[in-house]
Amino acid sequence: AEPTGLPRDLEGRSVVVSAGGTREPLDPVRYLGNRSSGRQGFALARVAAHRGADVTLVAANTADLVVPAGVRLRRVGTAEELRSELLEVADGVDAVVMSAAVADFRPSGSAEHKIKKNSGDPPPVELSRNPDVLGELVRRRANGRLRTEVIVGFAAETGDPDTTVLEYGRKKLAHKECDLLVVNAVGDGRAFEVEDNAGWLLASSGMEHPVPHGSKTLLASRLWDAVVEQFAAGDS
Ligand code: CTP
Ligand code: CA
Repeated sequence: AEPTGLPRDLEGRSVVVSAGGTREPLDPVRYLGNRSSGRQGFALARVAAHRGADVTLVAANTADLVVPAGVRLRRVGTAEELRSELLEVADGVDAVVMSAAVADFRPSGSAEHKIKKNSGDPPPVELSRNPDVLGELVRRRANGRLRTEVIVGFAAETGDPDTTVLEYGRKKLAHKECDLLVVNAVGDGRAFEVEDNAGWLLASSGMEHPVPHGSKTLLASRLWDAVVEQFAAGDS
């Protein structure tokens, strides 16, 4: 491997990272999507590979990003596809990091033909709930149907007058029951389609680290540091 100056502390470990935003079709040419670029997930995959991990990157729709060297790429489109791909690759790996922006809802039916505007009033879009992939991974592990030591979630939150971003993050960690949660403060053009993130790294153990304003690569390094700590706690 090229000298990177990074610790090789993920040598012998296998990890799965999901990235990008899902697209839920309305008809053959239109979809409901989100603004995730996939940059954070690609940074996570790149840093993990540099630190010696065997990396599978499950990428939904992303900006035109360079696939990091040595990383196994699997492309998906919808939340359903992301779910089935993850269930296929996650079992037996050491860590799964869900940085993908998964659509909570999808159009209940995708029209077989392009919806035309000249057919009267616009049709209402009826939505159905998508599976919660992170929730399912955590549930499967609890049932013994998935062997994965560390499961990591991401949360993009905006604060409001009653509840801060950090408080929303703590609630989400308690609700999701994953091992680590990265909480990003969004709004004012932060986090989406920009290079920088700022937020917190929360662990189910109660550990809370602020993640200062910095690059997505820096956040990725901090996250893998925390994952390595979890491996060490699990080994002892
Ligand atoms: N996630 C997922 N499947 C979904 C929705 C979200 O696996 N259908 C994952 C995301 O990849 C992320 C974590 O769950 O790691 C938190 O996503 P977020 O959207 O913040 O949480 P939700 O539970 O969807 O709650 P809400 O959007 O209402 O805040
Ligand atoms: Ca959501």
